[in-house]
Amino acid sequence: MIDLRSDTVTQPSQEMRRAMAAADVGDDVFGEDPTVNALEQRAATLLGKDAGLFVVSGTMGNLVSMLAHLGRGFELIAGAGTHVVDGEAGGHAVVVGASARAIRVGPDGTIDPAAIDRAFRDPSDVHEPVTGLVVLENTHNLTMGQPLTPSYTAEVAAIAHLRGVPLHVDGARLFNAAVALGVPARDLCDPADSVTFCLSKSLACPVGSVVVGTREFIATARRARKLVGGGMRQAGILAAAGLVALQPGPGGMIARLADDHANARRLAQGLAGLPGVIELEPHRVRTNFVIFGLAGRESRGASVTSRAAFLAGLATRGIQMIEYPNGLVRAVTHYGVSEVDIDTVLTAAREVLSELRPRSVMSAAATS
Ligand SMILES: Cc1ncc(COP(=O)(O)O)c(C=O)c1O
Repeated sequence: MIDLRSDTVTQPSQEMRRAMAAADVGDDVFGEDPTVNALEQRAATLLGKDAGLFVVSGTMGNLVSMLAHLGRGFELIAGAGTHVVDGEAGGHAVVVGASARAIRVGPDGTIDPAAIDRAFRDPSDVHEPVTGLVVLENTHNLTMGQPLTPSYTAEVAAIAHLRGVPLHVDGARLFNAAVALGVPARDLCDPADSVTFCLSKSLACPVGSVVVGTREFIATARRARKLVGGGMRQAGILAAAGLVALQPGPGGMIARLADDHANARRLAQGLAGLPGVIELEPHRVRTNFVIFGLAGRESRGASVTSRAAFLAGLATRGIQMIEYPNGLVRAVTHYGVSEVDIDTVLTAAREVLSELRPRSVMSAAATS
């Protein structure tokens, strides 16, 4: 199988497996797991913050951050369609008791800073919720994994801070952004008050995310983690993989993200040249996401290359991609996918599209 549905499908490396087997562990709810403590410290140092908190998932990282920053009746400002608004089972509303003000995101993954400024509520108006948090997503999923720059992050942070409101960065793929932009990851975090990043996505660990911020914020987030049932015991077994991933250089999983980005560009360049593939501008591939459409997918009958048939055709050739919002298809490159695999995918995609096209033309003739 060449599984491009997500970078969450990665298998842990042999070094991770060895580190997990040999990890020193203790009861982390008592703060006594040395491997978890080392991971939290390493993440905080790497991202230029005081302290870190190991959590089960990106969703939990964002949730405990919102619980730490917001109270019931508060509101967060975030991009429309971002994970925290649309992809986390409404945790901001269900668990935190906060509403979300979702604002349009541009094709580069940014929200217009002026629109963020306008989205703040009037704190003196008792009719309105109280704006308590701004959230950015870096990289930004729906715009094909666009990385947000340190200067943009600083601009948004300045707007929030002027109103006395913190900035949280959902950096599920923060290190992809750093590698794509050629900046240290800490530069993307400096302006933010808290950041979540995922170990279990492009960094190829089996489980986990880390939240970083001030010591005080992390203490509150730790209490929130307990509240949502996220207190773990001998979690060093999992944290050990994270320490391997965050190693500098070729031993770790950060520097190699450049290979995933190169593979994503290669895939996009190949796909964009295939008849039937639309809405794909390879120069917009900045990280490890490739998102594209199929010709005629929205027309009634005429030359429709069915997305389901395309994905099924790939699957019979041992390749998986995934349906994405707005009728699109997503492919994500990751650890374990090579340049040769990309060429195999392109050959298969060409075959599937050429098989599907004559049939769709015939069905178009039948319905016209
Ligand atoms: C941008 C973003 N934030 C948060 C998450 C949530 O991470 P998890 O699946 O570990 O809960 C995801 C998951 O894909 C994501 O893409």
